[in-house]
Amino acid sequence: MAMRLKQALRGALTEEELQALVGSYDVVGDIAIIIVPEEIQEKEQLIAEALLAGNARIKVVAKRAGNYGGEFRTIPLTILAGEERKETEVTEFGIRLRVNPETVYYSVRSGHERRRIASLVGEGEDILVLFSGIAPYPLIISRFSCARTIVGLEKNPEAHEYALQNLRLNRKLKNIELCLGDARDLQDFCAARRFDRVVMPLPTMAAAFLPPALTVLKPQGWLHFYDLQRPELFELSLQKLADGCRQQKRNVDSAEIIRCGHSAPRTFRICIDARIC
Ligand SMILES: C[S@@+](CC[C@H](N)C(=O)[O-])C[C@H]1O[C@@H](n2cnc3c(N)ncnc32)[C@H](O)[C@@H]1O
Repeated sequence: MAMRLKQALRGALTEEELQALVGSYDVVGDIAIIIVPEEIQEKEQLIAEALLAGNARIKVVAKRAGNYGGEFRTIPLTILAGEERKETEVTEFGIRLRVNPETVYYSVRSGHERRRIASLVGEGEDILVLFSGIAPYPLIISRFSCARTIVGLEKNPEAHEYALQNLRLNRKLKNIELCLGDARDLQDFCAARRFDRVVMPLPTMAAAFLPPALTVLKPQGWLHFYDLQRPELFELSLQKLADGCRQQKRNVDSAEIIRCGHSAPRTFRICIDARIC
């Protein structure tokens, strides 16, 4: 991908500008999301047009106009070329997902991780997905496991609306319940319900939500605790989980660290698959 964009722009950009060009980009449905470094900002239109012209699948080219931030982990986007819209549809392992990548968080890069979690689910399990966004985890788990029920909880109202829409789009999947609310108020949503497995895909901040999550996790239940960490500090992530469990009078019975992506060159997105007694 990187080579192709650079090749397409050879002659249009100077050697220095080509060096600065970030040739890789994310594709969410038919929207390409590029990063334009400061020093070649004047050429952003040219870059976007080249990308659009070289990829029939891409209908919109937008640039990151900031970083992921805020409680809802969203990112501002500016459209540079193509159609004037930010909504699109993604297919993840056959599951249809409508999404606006500016107003809700969704990472195409986590698809294999979601599929991995689904593959761990045993027959008849009751599952809670905290921070469920537009519902990719609930839908993938429903499609690829024999779970009994899957509850998703999300605070961003727009993400929740997309999640409901995505549930309708994949209407064969019947065992999902989606709630709009704050994971801190989990008890209000769950009452006396208890879960065999709780998924916590909110890297770096999941520890703050361990008290409510552990309250609803059954004894010997599975917790999937996400973090961003450098390999030499993996032990700290395990410690964070163990401390959170101890405070709730629970213990980590077993824990395995799975590397499931990158957030920076030497920083991994990790999932701790932990059995909690
Ligand atoms: C890293 S994203 C993961 C989204 C989704 N699970 C996915 O894989 O695409 C974290 C999500 O948590 C939501 N969130 C943040 N704080 C929350 C809270 N206190 N309660 C519930 N959801 C929250 C954000 O709006 C965002 O959708």
